[in-house]
Amino acid sequence: MDKSRYQKFFYPVLTYIQYMGKLLRICIYVVPFCVCLSCRNYSIKVSDSTNGNPQPNHSMKNDSVKYWVAADINSITDSLQKQQVVYGRELIAHTSKYLGPKGSLMKTTNGMNCQNCHLLAGTAVFGNNFGSVASLYPKYRARRGTFETEYERINDCLERSLNGEPLDSNTKEMQAIVAYFHFIGSNVPKGTKALGSGLKDLPYLDRAADANKGKMVYVKVCQSCHQIDGQGKLNEAGNEYTYPPLWGPHSFNDAAGMFRLGTIARYVKYNMPFGTSFRNPQLTDEQAWDVAAYIVSQPRSHINEPKDWPDLSAKPVDFPFAPYADHFPEQQHKYGPFKPILAFQKTRDNKKG
Ligand code: HEC
Ligand code: HEC
Repeated sequence: MDKSRYQKFFYPVLTYIQYMGKLLRICIYVVPFCVCLSCRNYSIKVSDSTNGNPQPNHSMKNDSVKYWVAADINSITDSLQKQQVVYGRELIAHTSKYLGPKGSLMKTTNGMNCQNCHLLAGTAVFGNNFGSVASLYPKYRARRGTFETEYERINDCLERSLNGEPLDSNTKEMQAIVAYFHFIGSNVPKGTKALGSGLKDLPYLDRAADANKGKMVYVKVCQSCHQIDGQGKLNEAGNEYTYPPLWGPHSFNDAAGMFRLGTIARYVKYNMPFGTSFRNPQLTDEQAWDVAAYIVSQPRSHINEPKDWPDLSAKPVDFPFAPYADHFPEQQHKYGPFKPILAFQKTRDNKKG
């Protein structure tokens, strides 16, 4: 091949290769940069930040705090007591196997386990744990407007969260659950609240939570386990959920605490995707509020609880059903923005004195 033919033949090829190389480099550097820029405020895997403002470093702050640790069941020496406490824990962790649609004892609940919302059988820090049940019940509850016993509180969750039937207080099951609460909380002084019990606070947004944005979070972060239709996934035996349902007939009903946006957002922020703890939250505050809005915007069972909130002014800002002791519509009480309602309530209650 002589030189001119060589040039004629290979020059365009070389130019072409060089050109493609440049194009490839542009793609490698520029495209991710643009994607980064456009999702900066709504990226899915984000560190702990609110509207771009850094938050205090949780791990450093929390390691110096002595959070509640459940009393160790293995330390129980009385064999009858141990048997009862272990049975109580079993009922919390695998409720459905006993009381669910294929329950071995009764078929009185929707198939959820108490543990689905009270993580690690109700012992996880800020995982809605039971650390303060033994120490604080009977407890005044504004929802009922009276003091409530542990039995009544458990039945609240059975009838609302598990959309089922209450248990009689003298059943072996109810007794075992209460024995379990008393044992795991036996290291908390009466009248005090265990550190890290219940759910961790989450700042309110300045806007209403957005179910459409929440759907994007759901698809990317939650759907792999809870499924595209939100109905979760049963185990092979079909008697318990591996991934519990978030809406629909087998999920909590609309009178449950989890149906309030603030409650589900706080639960999700510090506990989901599964494996997350308050020490390493995966979602920004906005994402937690938005995905919570998406979940509560979906259909679920309805029950009437006309006796709830006898004092309307005690209703929390995020209670989604009228009547109210303020002029804000149901829509705003369901999705926010909550700050104006909070401000209104403060002035109203100050006037009351
Ligand atoms: C890796 C699987 C996985 C992912 C991903 C995941 N979850 Fe969960 N989720 C679970 C499991 C498992 C439970 C029940 C925990 C238990 O029983 O110990 C649960 C429980 C829940 C509950 C309480 C129970 C219920 O059914 O209402 C809510 C609410 C929830 N998840 C929301 C979310 C949201 C929102 C996301 C996405 C931000 C998410 N989850 C991502 C596995 C997952
Ligand atoms: C769908 C989620 C969900 C399920 C399932 C659930 N709970 Fe709850 N439970 C909650 C939420 C949320 C709260 C706290 C917020 C509130 O007051 O509504 C709560 C509160 C409680 C409390 C009061 C804790 C305290 O410190 O005051 C007890 C006791 C309780 N649940 C027991 C149970 C038992 C027993 C079961 C199973 C039979 C169960 N729960 C199932 C969501 C759930």
